[in-house]
Amino acid sequence: MANESEKELAGRAAAQLVRDGDVVGLGTGSTAHFAVLALGERVKAGLKIVGIPTSVDTGNLARSLGIPLTTFDEHPAIDIDIDGADELDAQLRMIKGGGGALLREKVVASVSKKMVVIADSTKVVTTLGKFPLPVEVVPFARAVVERKLISLGATPKLRPKRNGQPYITDNGNYILDSSFGKIKDPQAIALALSETAGVVEHGLFIGFASVALIGRGNSVEEIPRKS
Ligand code: A5P
Repeated sequence: MANESEKELAGRAAAQLVRDGDVVGLGTGSTAHFAVLALGERVKAGLKIVGIPTSVDTGNLARSLGIPLTTFDEHPAIDIDIDGADELDAQLRMIKGGGGALLREKVVASVSKKMVVIADSTKVVTTLGKFPLPVEVVPFARAVVERKLISLGATPKLRPKRNGQPYITDNGNYILDSSFGKIKDPQAIALALSETAGVVEHGLFIGFASVALIGRGNSVEEIPRKS
């Protein structure tokens, strides 16, 4: 079971790494929520930052807390990105996108000098894949990508909204939550999906994280990236 206090500990620890003048990638999800709240407190206390949110929800939260927002036109590079994960392994490879924001999250991570991953202890796994891999697809290509996912060994399921209609991402696309069981070769799956026409983005984040801060009990464990 995910642990709220572990999420808060990790989120608050990450917010302390932000420095005056930083351009900050603001992640999405229940753990990133705590980091954004803590950044809001620091901004109220005088910290000068600008944020680039990874979702409409996070943008709304940041605005409500008085965190100034910016765009890639004004700030093409990000100093520090703070974001959650659905699963991460010892090499800091991750599955992300449980909250549906994987595309913007990956764009932000790709231009960040440092990506700090925050999570509770339940997210650390030996092998990725128990959490269904979110794959964002253009609606037109859903059936094509479903077949491709099946050929790769997954069982894809179109993510529904509460009203039974398909969930629509901030970018107007569908998500196929794709159960692999175990992803033995994440790099190969990532490559196969990136090469599939109709896939907008997939939730395998490989080579992005600089460090992970994991809430464990009453403390925060730091897992550095092994290069
Ligand atoms: C959002 O799309 C995701 O990538 C989240 O970062 C991820 O799902 C972790 O979310 P929680 O912190 O809510 O578990």
